[in-house]
Amino acid sequence: MEILNLKELDKVMDSIDINKPAPDTEPFRQYYFIKKNREYVKKKSEELNRPLTCSVNTFGCQMNVRDSEKLLGILEQMGYVKSESENADFVIYNTCTVRENANRKVYGHLGILKHTKKSNPDMMIGLCGCMMQEPDEIETVKNKYKFVDIVFGTHNVYKLAEIYNNRIMADGQVIDIWDDTDSVVEDLPATREYPFKSGVNIMYGCNNFCTYCIVPYVRGRERSRKPEDIIDEIKALADDGVVEVMLLGQNVNSYGKDLPEKVTFAELLERICQIEKIKRVRFMTPHPKDLSDELIDVIARNPKVCRHIHLPLQSGSTRILKAMNRHYTKEEYIALVEKIRSRIPDVSITADIIVGFPGETEEDFLDTLDVVEKVRYDTAFTFIYSKRTGTPAAKMEQLATKEELNDRYNRLYNRVLQISGEITNSFKGRIMPVLVEGISEQNDKLLTGRLSNNLLVHFEGCKQLIGQIVDVELIDCKGFYFIGSLKE
Ligand code: SAH
Ligand code: SF4
Ligand code: F3S
Repeated sequence: MEILNLKELDKVMDSIDINKPAPDTEPFRQYYFIKKNREYVKKKSEELNRPLTCSVNTFGCQMNVRDSEKLLGILEQMGYVKSESENADFVIYNTCTVRENANRKVYGHLGILKHTKKSNPDMMIGLCGCMMQEPDEIETVKNKYKFVDIVFGTHNVYKLAEIYNNRIMADGQVIDIWDDTDSVVEDLPATREYPFKSGVNIMYGCNNFCTYCIVPYVRGRERSRKPEDIIDEIKALADDGVVEVMLLGQNVNSYGKDLPEKVTFAELLERICQIEKIKRVRFMTPHPKDLSDELIDVIARNPKVCRHIHLPLQSGSTRILKAMNRHYTKEEYIALVEKIRSRIPDVSITADIIVGFPGETEEDFLDTLDVVEKVRYDTAFTFIYSKRTGTPAAKMEQLATKEELNDRYNRLYNRVLQISGEITNSFKGRIMPVLVEGISEQNDKLLTGRLSNNLLVHFEGCKQLIGQIVDVELIDCKGFYFIGSLKE
C-alpha cells in the first residue's frame, strides 16, 4: 500500500477524534470516516469470527483500473481484506459505459449477486464509475436493483468511506452522484495491483466531445493535477518499488492548459524521466489533433519513455473524421505517423478504430483500410460503433445494415491481425530488455513480461525476476507475442 505524499497516515489517523463532528476539508474528512468505519468493520468481523472480505471489480479503461486501486486502498484502511473471488462481504463494480455491451455485463453480474446476497444478508454491494453518471442507469438501479447498497459516480470516488458510513447509518440504498466537479483530491491511500508498476492520473475528464463518445459526459471537464503533486506521487511510488509508470489522461496533450502555471505535457514528461528510480514511462492517450513536435522530441531524447505511442485513428475517412469532431484529416494523420517514425524509428504505433459510425459508406471504410495499410499498426483495437444516448452521433442515421457492419469489422480485424503478426515476427532473433510482470497465465512454468514497445514475451526464469528489467532473446513468434529465452 502506498500513502501518497503522506507517509505517516497512521499518525494522522491517531490524531483524529471520531467523537467530534467530521472535518470539512479533504482528505481529512475521508480519514475521519475511514476511522469511523474501522469500528464497524471490526465489530462485524468479531460477530462473524473472521475478517470481512472485499472485492473491487473493474470494467473499462486504465482510468477505472486506477480508481479501483484507490477504492481498494480505502477499503483496506477500513479493515477489509481483499478477496480473490467475487463472493465477498463487500463487492464493488466500477463500471464503464463507453459501449453498450459494457453496461450489459454489469447487469449480468448483478443478477448473480442478488442470489448470493440472499445467503449473506450482511453483504454489501456498491456500484460506481462511468455508467452511474447516466441518469437512465440510476433509474434502472433504483427500480430493479434495490438490493444494491451504495451508488456513486466518477467525481466522488474518493468519498467511498463517507458514502459507506451514510449507508451503515441509514436504511436502504444510498445514491450519491455529482454532475461535475472542479476539485482534485490528493493524498488518499491506494493499493496497487502490481508492486512494480502503476497508473498515475495526470488529468481527469475530457473536453473534446468526439460525437460518438460518452466519456466527456460521464467524466466531466478537463482538470489537470499540479505537476508537483504528480512528481511527488511518482517519487513516492518509486520509493515503494515502482519502476514503470503509465501517465493517464483522456487526451494527455491537453495537460496543463487549465493550470495557472503553464506547463505542457512534454515538459511534465521530461521532468518525470528525471526521477532516477523510474525506469520506464508510458502514457495514454495522446490525441492526434494536438500531438506536438516538442512531445516527439522529448520522447526521442529520453530512452525511459517507452517506444510505444497509442494514436487512436477512429476512422480513415476525412468525411467521417469531421462528423466525429476529431479535428484531423486522413492525410494529416498519416503525415503525423511518418513524422513520429522518422524521429523515433523504433516506435510501435497502435490505435483504436471504430467501424460503422453513422453514415459510414463502403468508400469511407476503404479509407480506414487504406490507413491501416499505409501505417501498418503494431496492433489496433477495433470496435463496432455503439450508439450512446445523449451524444450527437446518436441522432445521426445509420446507413449500413448489420451484415455490412459485421463484414467490415471482420475485414478490418483480419487485416490488422495479419499486419500485426508480420511486424511482431520481424523482431525474431533480437535481444531486448523486458520488464518481468508475472507468471504466464497459460503456462505457470513461464514468466511473462513486456518490451518497451509493449510486445509481450513469455520465457523461462525464476519468479524472483518479477519486477526487474532483464534481457531476453526473442525466439519464437506466436502471432502477437513471443516465446523468448533469458540472457544471463
Ligand atoms: N480518450 C481516448 C479514448 C477513450 S474511449 C481517446 O481519445 O483515444 C476508448 C476507445 O473506445 C476510443 O478510442 C474509441 O475507439 C472507442 N469508443 C468510444 N466511444 C465509442 C462508441 N460509441 N462506439 C464504439 N467505440 C467507441
Ligand atoms: Fe472520447 Fe474523444 Fe474524449 Fe477520447 S478524446 S474520451 S474519444 S471524447
Ligand atoms: Fe469506460 Fe469510463 Fe473509461 S466509460 S472507457 S471506464 S472513462
